Amino acid sequence: MASYEYETHEYDVVVVGAGGAGLRATLGMAEQGLRTACVTKVFPTRSHTVAAQGGIAASLGNMGPDSWQWHMYDTVKGSDWLGDTDAMEYLAREAPKAVYELEHYGVPFSRTEEGKIYQRPFGGHTTEYGEGPAVQRTCAAADRTGHAILHTLYGQSLKQKAEFFIEYFAIDLIMSEDGECQGVLCWKLDDGTLHLFSAKMTVLATGGYGRAYFSATSAHTCTGDGGGMVARAGLPLQDMEFVQFHPTGIYGAGCLITEGARGEGGYLTNSEGERFMERYAPTYKDLASRDVVSRCMTMEIREGRGVGQNGDHIHLNLNHLPAETLALRLPGISESARIFAGVDVTKEPVPVLPTVHYNMGGIPTNYWGEVLAPTAKDDNAVAPGLMAVGEAGCASVHGANRLGSNSLIDLVVFGRAAAIRAGEIVDPNSAVPTPNMRSVEMALARFDGLRHARGQVGTAELRLEMQKTMQDDAAVFRTSETLAQGKEKMEGIAGKLSDVAVTDNTLIWNSDLMETLELANLMPNAVATVVAAEARKESRGAHAHEDFPDRDDENWRKHSLTWFKGDEQKASLGYRGVHMNPLTSHNDGGIDLKKIAPKARVY
Ligand code: FUM
Repeated sequence: MASYEYETHEYDVVVVGAGGAGLRATLGMAEQGLRTACVTKVFPTRSHTVAAQGGIAASLGNMGPDSWQWHMYDTVKGSDWLGDTDAMEYLAREAPKAVYELEHYGVPFSRTEEGKIYQRPFGGHTTEYGEGPAVQRTCAAADRTGHAILHTLYGQSLKQKAEFFIEYFAIDLIMSEDGECQGVLCWKLDDGTLHLFSAKMTVLATGGYGRAYFSATSAHTCTGDGGGMVARAGLPLQDMEFVQFHPTGIYGAGCLITEGARGEGGYLTNSEGERFMERYAPTYKDLASRDVVSRCMTMEIREGRGVGQNGDHIHLNLNHLPAETLALRLPGISESARIFAGVDVTKEPVPVLPTVHYNMGGIPTNYWGEVLAPTAKDDNAVAPGLMAVGEAGCASVHGANRLGSNSLIDLVVFGRAAAIRAGEIVDPNSAVPTPNMRSVEMALARFDGLRHARGQVGTAELRLEMQKTMQDDAAVFRTSETLAQGKEKMEGIAGKLSDVAVTDNTLIWNSDLMETLELANLMPNAVATVVAAEARKESRGAHAHEDFPDRDDENWRKHSLTWFKGDEQKASLGYRGVHMNPLTSHNDGGIDLKKIAPKARVY
């Protein structure tokens, strides 16, 4: 192995990732006077949160009656009763506070006539515990809400003197022999130097792993880097079988057309011009939750009612909406439809297809963002020194299916929660842990091994094989056969990582090496997805198993956990219980538990 020098840095907190969750955590840590570094592989305002369009859910009640209890009920039902009750209560209760904070930080929200934050309807968000009409709960900055939030949080973090290390790639976590996280080893992409960040708290905010699939709304940077590092550190991933398909990815290109388009009155039609969602979800129609709409679209296509020459997609109609509404509320998607589908939304429907969009699963945490290291004795044991927030984490508020606009609120509520918790447990006057040199050497050896990998299979070729397999075998609908095949194929594909070829072994702007490191992170995420999906013999949320079409609460209302041993690509499975208890009892103003008892999930 080549010998490597590295620069050392010491902080109270190091945050890895600068999307909405990473920046909200960074800002909250820095505001409390904790010495905070934020390490990110892309420039902060280019993080994938910038692509979030439709909005952020919070029961502000600006457009009509709403309550955090209704928001919580919708989230519980949306999760198909797999979310943790305490975390879902925390999300719904804290959401208004977190949004008003954003407003005060300067997020340029769209406004109502009276100057309040504008809110639009989104799928699965209702009133009266699902008995009333759809609610306008999703706070929006036109259809560029993530962009607005990201820019504001970055500016505020700079103001608080958080230090940014931009275009640094996180190689591996540094772990003590007894499982404490001590920081992270990074590679600075523009000059090839290595950097060891030692910290009392490391926060993973690395986003999802949408790029394990062939067609995704996720940026090419969404490579599950946090999940990869955690898997190699011997910690589990949770609920990885639940992968969300957004109903309206642009056919062919895969880019997102916001659910806000249906919130503003858009609707889907099949080849007969029929508004088919009325048949499947008579109450909320096109505003049923995403897993439901994606399945209905897939059924229409399968039954021969898809549109286009090959009958393989669906139409999203917006041309009946006033041109001013499109220009004011949906300018971004009007442009995306023109560029990526060649469609003028004021005149023609947009061709759309369910497209991979979000990972409900991730690194298990409690609702403070502390990473869980479950043991035989304690399901909720915490890995000291390590937190995960945002799409990288699994708190678990989304359970088996996330509601639209519950992602941006998850980022800011749990980024903020992690900062609150760190303020309680990180002592600014204590010493930064001395890094475990064995762990540092292992990280360097893995980096060096990939840098000099001279196998038979190219990174791009292997990535494509993985993406095609995931797309075919872990899709909207799954069967025992596709899942068994997917599991076998993915374990074989992941095994080929040891035969990968990296052709460039320089250290400056080496995109070949960086893509290989990213592929090595994607692999455990992809394997965990098919392994957990193959094992789950029921249908719940985004996991639609055709051989087990019903939800089975008796046997399967539990979180799956997937472990890897070191660099091995084979996963072992375990389970942990869903948290059933709320934070506040009904007598103290909490939700009535009878309201959120499991029942059939119809929209
Ligand atoms: O449709 C959208 O605007 C996406 C929102 C979300 O995933 O929460």
